[in-house]
Amino acid sequence: MKIKTLVVGLGKIGIGYDLNKKNKESLSHCSSVINSKKFKLVGGVDKDKNKKIPFERCYGNLFFDDLKYALLKTSPSFVIISSSTNSHLEIVKKISNLNYKNLDKVKFILIEKPMGMNFSQAKKIVSFCEKNKIKLLVNYFRNYNKNFINITQKNNNYTHGKIIYSGGMINNGSHFLCLFLILFGKILKVEKSYFKKINDYDYRFTGLIYFEKAKLLFKNNVHTTKKHSFVLRNNNNFIEYDNKKNTITNKSSVSKKLIIKKKTHIKNPQNIVLDQIYRFMIKKNCNICTGSFALKVYKDLEKIKNII
Ligand SMILES: NC(=O)c1ccc[n+]([C@@H]2O[C@H](COP(=O)([O-])OP(=O)(O)OC[C@H]3O[C@@H](n4cnc5c(N)ncnc54)[C@H](O)[C@@H]3O)[C@@H](O)[C@H]2O)c1
Repeated sequence: MKIKTLVVGLGKIGIGYDLNKKNKESLSHCSSVINSKKFKLVGGVDKDKNKKIPFERCYGNLFFDDLKYALLKTSPSFVIISSSTNSHLEIVKKISNLNYKNLDKVKFILIEKPMGMNFSQAKKIVSFCEKNKIKLLVNYFRNYNKNFINITQKNNNYTHGKIIYSGGMINNGSHFLCLFLILFGKILKVEKSYFKKINDYDYRFTGLIYFEKAKLLFKNNVHTTKKHSFVLRNNNNFIEYDNKKNTITNKSSVSKKLIIKKKTHIKNPQNIVLDQIYRFMIKKNCNICTGSFALKVYKDLEKIKNII
């Protein structure tokens, strides 16, 4: 039987990215669920009633503007939270508090990153889920890119690196922080060389982060919101990842040999996410980020922010 899935938040990542017909990939949660053999879309929720028409044009008569009603009506065992970050805590609270007799409880939540507006909200989200025995997963989907995970498995002992990321550290840089915490261990020290608050929760950061196994320069790219790329190196060679164009090689190649050059682009990312979630649900090996690991990431993001 397919897993009943409710998507809360029908913006860009909820449905919007796939409303553009030129796009041949599946980039949004709703389109991944509808195309899945394992999951069944039972509803889409958004507080904005204008989302009804685009949603129902693609997915049928399943729109709700009231979360509680949607939960009662559809009894999902899995909820994807892809609403605005400032609504994440309130939505998790509503799901956790719904405890009627005869109502199938939500067992799994996939929440978009960042989990909340700050560490304290993220902590509450994890705690609500734990108390209500809901397994919480966070969509740091770069963790499932096989190329990345292979970095350390190939015994390359990378010790240095440079990451260029765009936007804020919490919104975008956190993808890489999460990945490198897995690959290179805990953060031992941070040296800030540039810092600027962007809004009431996010910040731009450039500086050195010393992980247990590697020293990495995080460089904020202020000129674009689209690009990211990174280089990792050891004594003899280096590996370069880029999402579109090569932006690093000329400056960082030094005299070492480029051994691998890969694109970071993941085709149909949300399909891979669902595959990972399914593996998690049936207790198979997977790289999905759990709520408790994402909380550690958030703690480090706050530490970096507060280092003078
Ligand atoms: N994993 C990734 O790489 C990735 C990529 C893009 C966005 N995101 C995250 O996904 C989330 C949404 O981003 P987006 O770009 O789609 O934003 P968006 O602004 O396009 O869409 C957000 C939607 O949530 C709805 N919403 C807000 N409060 C709500 C509530 N209480 N109940 C129901 N619906 C509510 C809004 O009406 C809107 O339709 C953010 O947390 C963002 O950080 C993650």
